[in-house]
Amino acid sequence: MKIIVISYSFTGNNEALASCVAKELPAEHIRISEPKSRTMGTIILDMIFSRTPLVQPAPDILGNYDFILFFGPVWMGQVAAPLRAHFKYLKTHPHKYGFISISGGADSTNPKLTGELRKRTGVDPAVFIDMHIADLLPANPKPARKDTSAYQLDDVDMKKLTHTIMKMLKDVI
Ligand SMILES: Cc1cc2nc3c(=O)[nH]c(=O)nc-3n(C[C@H](O)[C@H](O)[C@H](O)COP(=O)(O)O)c2cc1C
Repeated sequence: MKIIVISYSFTGNNEALASCVAKELPAEHIRISEPKSRTMGTIILDMIFSRTPLVQPAPDILGNYDFILFFGPVWMGQVAAPLRAHFKYLKTHPHKYGFISISGGADSTNPKLTGELRKRTGVDPAVFIDMHIADLLPANPKPARKDTSAYQLDDVDMKKLTHTIMKMLKDVI
């Protein structure tokens, strides 16, 4: 099975995790980038107005693979906007895919993600893993948004999360 890992990351966490998993599989890893620089302001506008930003590489590269494994952050309860163009491509070019995220998780468990993925791609993901930085921090006091938002995954976290992901992927790939 020809697998591609596609990641988008604003502050580095999802890209680092995607890179570890791609090495472990092994699979090719492509990073989504944007010609325009991303700011907190454009994050909020994209999420409020459900905009699909221009990204590189173009989604038609997905046509060369049997299984697409997306990695990206959650913003305001939704999948980060820079992955949208690739999700949309799957609607007209159905492929088996998975979605994995390391998000903050301080406020909630992002319950709308699977519905959003189904709406954007037309089908449910074969694998869905929403991991939380809040679960990597001491439970007491309960991690707040300010604790999770500045957090950068270290080598120990990366090893732990990659192990969990590889175990879950075993049944699918
Ligand atoms: C504007 C913004 C909104 C966010 N909203 C959420 C959210 O709704 N749920 C959540 O779990 N994490 C949320 N986060 C936290 C990110 O998902 C988390 O920091 C993630 O690890 C960042 O990934 P990255 O380093 O790959 O960009 C938000 C972060 C930003 C910047």
